[in-house]
Amino acid sequence: MTAPSSPGLPDYRAQSPAVAERFRKLQERPVVLEIEHLGRQFPGQAGPVTALRDISLKIHRRELVCVIGPSGCGKSTLIRIIAGLDDPSTGRMLVDGKETSGPCPERGMVFQGYTLFPWLSVKRNIMFGLEMGGMARDQADAEARQWIDLVGLTKFANNYPHQLSGGMKQRVAIARALAPNPRVLLMDEPFGALDAQTRAQMQAHLLEIWRNVDVTILFITHDLDEAIFLADRIVVLKAHPGEVQEIIEVPVPRPRHLSQVTSPEFLATRRRLDELIHPRDVHAPVEKLPIVRLTQAGDDVE
Ligand SMILES: Nc1ncnc2c1ncn2[C@@H]1O[C@H](COP(=O)(O)OP(=O)(O)OP(=O)(O)O)[C@@H](O)[C@H]1O
Ligand SMILES: [Mg+2]
Repeated sequence: MTAPSSPGLPDYRAQSPAVAERFRKLQERPVVLEIEHLGRQFPGQAGPVTALRDISLKIHRRELVCVIGPSGCGKSTLIRIIAGLDDPSTGRMLVDGKETSGPCPERGMVFQGYTLFPWLSVKRNIMFGLEMGGMARDQADAEARQWIDLVGLTKFANNYPHQLSGGMKQRVAIARALAPNPRVLLMDEPFGALDAQTRAQMQAHLLEIWRNVDVTILFITHDLDEAIFLADRIVVLKAHPGEVQEIIEVPVPRPRHLSQVTSPEFLATRRRLDELIHPRDVHAPVEKLPIVRLTQAGDDVE
């Protein structure tokens, strides 16, 4: 498919030599997660509904891939299948080259909603999975402390979830998902419930954690700027059925920082995502909505 570049902006596929080199090296790394021809149908009232069709994807070690697409295009279905919380109707999944299915500590998950155990402290929330996996309490305690330090919550180790802000809860959720050393961290709109400022802080924080941990991340979002800020590659899905529309290599250099959101390569990528996600003319005037007259004439707002 050819896509015209936008006037005044570079082609979103144009990469600086440093970015091109990064992608070349990324492709030389081993493939950690591979999905082949994945499909999922659900029974519907008027026959089966195809939520996902023929999704194939290879994600390399320590790559950060974002998946975006309109509501209902199958993003959560995809990540739930990869997490082993749902089964595909067709296709298969491989982790480190081995076919796998069902939940497994090698794939950690962070959800949008807060999923901490409210009756356990921050430290116990993180220790829980480690002890369930057979780790002795002393070791689980020491490991949990390290993760708590990494996510910047040292002073809150003994607090309970209701004593934490939304951003802090998601830091604990990330620590809890990372503690068993998963190969892949799966995140389904993890910052979707946070206010804009906390969300931006959490995005920067996630990149910082990712720099320090050997983990591959698959991150679902419907926020275009979040996807560009975080990702190496962005998988754009389309709806009904959920299919891969395009995979974009983000041309914005790393390390990322907030000032890049106005850079030409960021804006060019933003523009392309807008074209894909909102295929109708985004600049067309909004149709006039009927005004329901509840009051007397003469008090119109304009
Ligand atoms: N358990 C289920 N039973 C029947 N249909 C389902 C089920 N789960 C998902 N679907 C359907 O599959 C499609 C994809 O849903 P999914 O939740 O994966 O979308 P999404 O991209 O995550 O949407 P959103 O952006 O709103 O979170 C939708 O049409 C949805 O109605
Ligand atoms: Mg969803």
